[in-house]
Parts: sequence; C-alpha cells; structure tokens
Amino acid sequence: MTIAADYVDFAVRELRGVSPTYERLALAVSRDDELLARLGELPPGKRQPNLLFGVVRLLGGPVDDPAAFRGFAVANWPAIAAEMRVRATQTNEAGRCAVLLPVLAALPQPLALLEVGASAGLCLYPDRYAYRYGDHRVGSGTPVLDCAATGLMPPTRLPRVVWRAGLDLNPLDVTDPADVAWLDALVWPEHSHRRERLRAAARIAAADPPLLVRGDLVDDLPALAARAPAGATLVVFHTSVLYQVPRARRDAFVDVVRELPGHWISNEAPEVLPYDGLPEPPSEALHNVLALDGRPLAWSRGHGQSMVWFG
Ligand SMILES: C[S@@+](CC[C@H](N)C(=O)[O-])C[C@H]1O[C@@H](n2cnc3c(N)ncnc32)[C@H](O)[C@@H]1O
Repeated sequence: MTIAADYVDFAVRELRGVSPTYERLALAVSRDDELLARLGELPPGKRQPNLLFGVVRLLGGPVDDPAAFRGFAVANWPAIAAEMRVRATQTNEAGRCAVLLPVLAALPQPLALLEVGASAGLCLYPDRYAYRYGDHRVGSGTPVLDCAATGLMPPTRLPRVVWRAGLDLNPLDVTDPADVAWLDALVWPEHSHRRERLRAAARIAAADPPLLVRGDLVDDLPALAARAPAGATLVVFHTSVLYQVPRARRDAFVDVVRELPGHWISNEAPEVLPYDGLPEPPSEALHNVLALDGRPLAWSRGHGQSMVWFG
C-alpha cells in the first residue's frame, strides 16, 4: 500500500466512529503531497498515523484543525522526524484486559502472567481492575473496563495472579513523567475516558510494579519464562504487538511460544496472525482475533471496547 492508502485505511478502519479528530487528520494527510513526501523519507515502519499524531501532540502541536496541524508539521518537521525515528507506538491500553479476562478466568489458577510487548505493563493487572459486560459486573477495583460482549458468558470471577512479568524492546516506566507524557500523547484526543483509565491503571502499576525486562519477544522469552514460579499456570500473552514485528520474526515467535509450558493467549489482527476458517468480522472496522493456544475464539476491537465470541 502507498502511504496515502495506509492513512485512508487507518481513517476508515480504525478511526471512523472512534476518533473523528484523527479521522479528519488522517484523511487530510492522505491528500497532502508535501507531508506524504516527508513521511516517505522515514523508514517504512516509522510512517504510521498514530506515530505522527502522537509525536505532534507530544511536541505541543495542534491536532483539532487539519490546517493548523499541517502548518505546525511543516514548520517543525526536523524535530517531528527525529522523534518519529526513535519512538514507536507503545499505546498501553488497560481496556484490553476486558478481552483477555474471559480466557484468563477459565484457566487453572493461580496464574503467572508473562506479557510480550508489554509497554508499561498495564495489561498485567487483570485481577485488579473491574469489568462491565453490559449489565454484568466483575470485580470492584478501578478503573472499570467496559466491554460490549456478544455471544459470551461473561466471567464470574477474577483470576488469581501470583507473578507478573513483561518483556519489551523499550519498557516504559509509569513513575517516569517523560514516559507517562508519551503514553498520554498516544491516547486519541477525544478519549478522556481512556486518559483517566491510563492514570488509574498507572497508579495500580506504580504501587506494585511488575518485573519489566528489556528484550526481544523471540530471543529473550524462554529465559524470562523460566523465571515463572512453579505451581502457577504460566500464561504468555500479547495484544496489538505483532504488527510491529517482521513476518519471519512472528513465525519464530510462534515456534518459541509453542514450546513453552502453560498457555498462550494472542489478541492480534488476522492480517498479522492468520487463522484458517475465521467467521466474517462483525463490520469493516479493524478487529483483532482473540485466540488461546492458537485456537481462535472471538473478534475484539482495538481498545477492548467490544468483542464477539465465535459461535
Ligand atoms: C502497541 S504496543 C501494545 C502494548 C500492550 N501490549 C497493550 O496492549 O497495551 C506494542 C509494544 O510492543 C513492543 N514490541 C514491538 N516489537 C517487539 C519485540 N520484537 N520484542 C518485544 N517487544 C516488542 C513495543 O515496544 C510496544 O511497547
């Protein structure tokens, strides 16, 4: 796909109905030859809308008005490009725990959680948050994670977690204001509920920090998994990570994770981690596939806001 087509695809499949502000911006960039040419000077993995918009917000630029955004982007391109080259989209969305919970709660307890591509590790606390699946509520903590779930018998209990560890190329620290500023800049402009959720989840992580290890999800996974305590079910999981990993390394990761004891939960786009015989997705919006040990179970939306369980 061309860069322009990528921006249109992102606008239509991820932003439409979710962030009108970014949808406008992404469509404006897709028609802007000058900005497209500048994006084309960046490495292919560094051109995405989420990275561009997050960096502009981090640098204090405007995102509400496409013309003002363009003016800022053109005037400040060297600084923007420098940040885009060294940063990656590391959105850490605790809301994705609402998608993981039905699977986690059904596994033999207690659990030893190991998240690859953990960012700041906010998805490592599924036992501390509360959940609302329509009228059904689970847990009493904060934040409360809402998920519109279809075809699912919602879980009645929280998992018991005795160990939590994360692996990331660039782990973020929720006690470091610079890291929190980047996580905040990655939250889409209208999403004040997600910004509040980020703050609440960050408080939980800061009070009881997970073991976060800098490393690669292929090369460094076995050594970290070996540190999990005996007597707990090891669960290796990842959400919205493998799109950042080259195809050959994704295949290598699947080979490594299948060799480990315990269970493997993935929540990734089907273009990234394909399965045979998937049902039609609920809409043209981008959906992830939730899977346990390579068996697909449900469609889920990107921030954990909804899921459709397969029949
Ligand atoms: C979009 S974030 C998702 C974070 C978290 N899983 C969530 O759902 O909130 C993707 C994360 O994967 C990490 N990542 C990308 N490639 C990786 C690799 N090869 N090994 C470890 N982490 C990686 C990035 O640094 C980033 O923090």
